[in-house]
Amino acid sequence: MTDAQRQLAEKLTAARKVVALSGAGLSAESGVPTFRGDGGLWRNHRPADLATPEAFATDPQLVWEFYNWRREKVLSVEPNPAHHALTELERSLPAFCHITQNVDALAHRAGGENIIELHGNLMTTLCSACREAQPHAPVIVPFPTYCEHCGALVRPGVVWFGESVTQFEPALAAMNECDVLLVIGTSAVVQPAASLATIARRQGAFAAEFNLEATPLTDRIDLFIAGPAGRTLPPVVQAAFA
Ligand code: OAD
Repeated sequence: MTDAQRQLAEKLTAARKVVALSGAGLSAESGVPTFRGDGGLWRNHRPADLATPEAFATDPQLVWEFYNWRREKVLSVEPNPAHHALTELERSLPAFCHITQNVDALAHRAGGENIIELHGNLMTTLCSACREAQPHAPVIVPFPTYCEHCGALVRPGVVWFGESVTQFEPALAAMNECDVLLVIGTSAVVQPAASLATIARRQGAFAAEFNLEATPLTDRIDLFIAGPAGRTLPPVVQAAFA
């Protein structure tokens, strides 16, 4: 354990309300590709071609194939020790909220409960016209699939660039109330997730960041814990609540 990990463990032991804000780095050790690092999805694909309402309007099948490929990937992997550590943290604290930009639902599969999925959920679909959620099992959905209510094309239940995140108000409330914030595996360049972290910090929360490398947030947090979250987070949670 480093001094930084020990210091954070003490803060967590004394904390009442803790928020974790996560990004693709949380799932990297499960084998889910990140977006901007080496091998990242946006290194080989343009977001504008695959992750916007305009892309879906232009070539829905291409967009659908991209998301089915991601669904297959996520269905073939398992939560990693960082996801499990967050579940343990949730069970040990009076109040805990996990705000994630990830759409892979791995935190749910690890047993996490109070999770805000800012960017939606890869395993869900909704109508591209009436926005009605479509009932189906979390599996690969064939293209084209049409809305059970209005007959329009069904789309992935994720938030695309240019769209509003889901559950922003509860995420904001959690940031305004927490006394410890953990920022885990996000490059902190996509809004509004990045500014949510600043809000917690500004209202006086103690903030710790887990990442392989510095981000635009690093200068504004209290502790930076370098390394893969699957290895750096579990010992902190264990030390806080053993
Ligand atoms: P990024 O790919 O932008 O950033 C991943 C971050 O995780 C980087 O800062 C890495 O250094 C870090 N990282 C990688 N492996 C790690 C590990 N094992 N432990 C800790 N940190 C690790 O992913 P996000 O920040 O999640 O949105 O990206 C935000 C949003 O941009 C995504 O939700 C997605 C994307 O475009 C949409 O598709 C709308």
